[in-house]
Amino acid sequence: MRRWCLLVLLLLLVDCCLCQFPRPCANSEGLRTKVCCPVWEGDGSACGALSGRGFCTEVEVSDEPHGPQYPHSGIDDRERWPLAFFNRMCHCAGNYGGFNCGECRFGYWGANCAEYRESVRGNLLTLSTVEQQKFISYLNLAKNTISRDYVISTAPRADMGENGENPMFSDINTYDLFVWMHYFATRDAFLGGSGNVWRDIDFAHESSAFLPWHRVFLLHWENEIRKLTGDFNFTIPYWDWRDAQSCEVCTDALMGGRNALNPNLISPASVFSSWKVICTQLEEYNSKEVLCNSTGEGPLLRNPGNHDRRRVPRLPTAADVEFAVNLQQYETGPMDRFANMSFRNVIEGFASPVSGLAISSQSMMHNALHVFMNGTMSSVQSSANDPVFLLHHAFIDSIYERWLRKHQPLRSNYPRANAAIGHNDGYYMVPFMPLYRNGEYFLTNKKLGYAYACLLDPGVCKSFGHSSWSRSVFWGLGFAVIAVIAVLICCCLYCC
Ligand SMILES: *[C@@H]1O[C@H](CO)[C@@H](O)[C@H](O)[C@H]1NC(C)=O
Ligand SMILES: *[C@@H]1O[C@H](CO)[C@@H](O)[C@H](O)[C@H]1NC(C)=O
Ligand SMILES: *[C@@H]1O[C@H](CO)[C@@H](O)[C@H](O)[C@H]1NC(C)=O
Ligand SMILES: *[C@@H]1O[C@H](CO)[C@@H](O)[C@H](O)[C@H]1NC(C)=O
Repeated sequence: MRRWCLLVLLLLLVDCCLCQFPRPCANSEGLRTKVCCPVWEGDGSACGALSGRGFCTEVEVSDEPHGPQYPHSGIDDRERWPLAFFNRMCHCAGNYGGFNCGECRFGYWGANCAEYRESVRGNLLTLSTVEQQKFISYLNLAKNTISRDYVISTAPRADMGENGENPMFSDINTYDLFVWMHYFATRDAFLGGSGNVWRDIDFAHESSAFLPWHRVFLLHWENEIRKLTGDFNFTIPYWDWRDAQSCEVCTDALMGGRNALNPNLISPASVFSSWKVICTQLEEYNSKEVLCNSTGEGPLLRNPGNHDRRRVPRLPTAADVEFAVNLQQYETGPMDRFANMSFRNVIEGFASPVSGLAISSQSMMHNALHVFMNGTMSSVQSSANDPVFLLHHAFIDSIYERWLRKHQPLRSNYPRANAAIGHNDGYYMVPFMPLYRNGEYFLTNKKLGYAYACLLDPGVCKSFGHSSWSRSVFWGLGFAVIAVIAVLICCCLYCC
């Protein structure tokens, strides 16, 4: 019985802690003390210190200068993240992770986080119908379940009082938590006065951290879904859009077809037609100097292919991807959207995948897909409302992985200084808590616990797929295992 109890405990351990504001720290006390070192329930100590999982320590932020794109300082909560909110947080030892070190680092499992396990992200179009449906139902469950561990802030730190007497945080569902995080990283900076904002600021795009930031974003998302569903083998599928002529995943069985009565809306046969978007009223927030507070703002908009064809003449081709992967340098010149021959700038889509030179009149590669969707996906700050975002970014991440494997870059190939604000190697990614440095997600040898079904070998990739039958048996077994575990938990609660 003891062994089984251990197993159950182990499963409960995995079930913890992610990003944005950890609920235990989002209160007056946390704001006043600037300490976010929550207790790990496993041993009742802050950061699980008694069990050697981690300790509470000073947050040290990098002093390297950032680029000239953002000429202000001391006016935005995201500068020198996370110091506007906290200056002491948990530092986890070994393979432990999470805001209270109660979790494992990505890829590690078990009570001591000693077991490394890799799961495979598959091509959505070649998954079995059962798996496709499971993905859709997980998305919908996330959209309808309040996040247990995280809350969002609904106002700038200054509005919460010097000593945090007026904390302004709010519950949010697990899907929208991520929509909000993407919005928060990309929103305009308030300069003071209605509508007086600085727009050329983005902690997740238009510079070097674009790829590492979205990598961590997807890992977190995947982990939240695992916690929510208890399906610890869940992985985000990708959409291989190379040479696509249309939105192949926009069908009622997958991400939703077009509404016959209004081409900007999703067909009522898809569950996504009932989703409400958040963080879309950007000019309103700017004029009121408030943050998106997760209020529903209307239906998802999507009208694939109805975009301006001068801006996006075609979707990216396999040849475009080859060109990008063959570029030697990760980042170049000003390290922003004007960079020439930079892998990051080409894959992001501000530079041509034919010449490698920056062009401002067109959107290519990653950007092309966003513009092509002609709706909620097309605005940077609100794009994550459309679940196509996940499929798209999983594919972008697989190209990043391919580039890393091909070029085996040294960490010193990632900019240490002078990238746009938030993008240097040593900076912590906004708005993740626990903290992650950009440069740590530029490593090829970093084991993150996932792989891609095919690393894009042309031909192999599109035809790749397990038979539906073997997949169904696999998932059938999966559910049986979950059922057995549930029974064991009940037994344990009763016996231990
Ligand atoms: C949320 O934001 C909207 C739009 O800015 C605003 O109208 C609404 O009053 C806010 N709600 C709360 C609870 O703050
Ligand atoms: C959709 O495309 C049209 C041009 O075809 C453009 O005017 C409009 O702004 C686009 N809408 C979005 C939300 O991207
Ligand atoms: C990129 O290349 C173009 C064309 O050669 C050149 O005009 C531009 O100045 C270059 N940009 C940078 C930032 O080096
Ligand atoms: C998850 O995958 C592991 C290893 O591939 C397997 O042993 C386990 O049974 C799977 N669990 C479920 C719930 O499917």
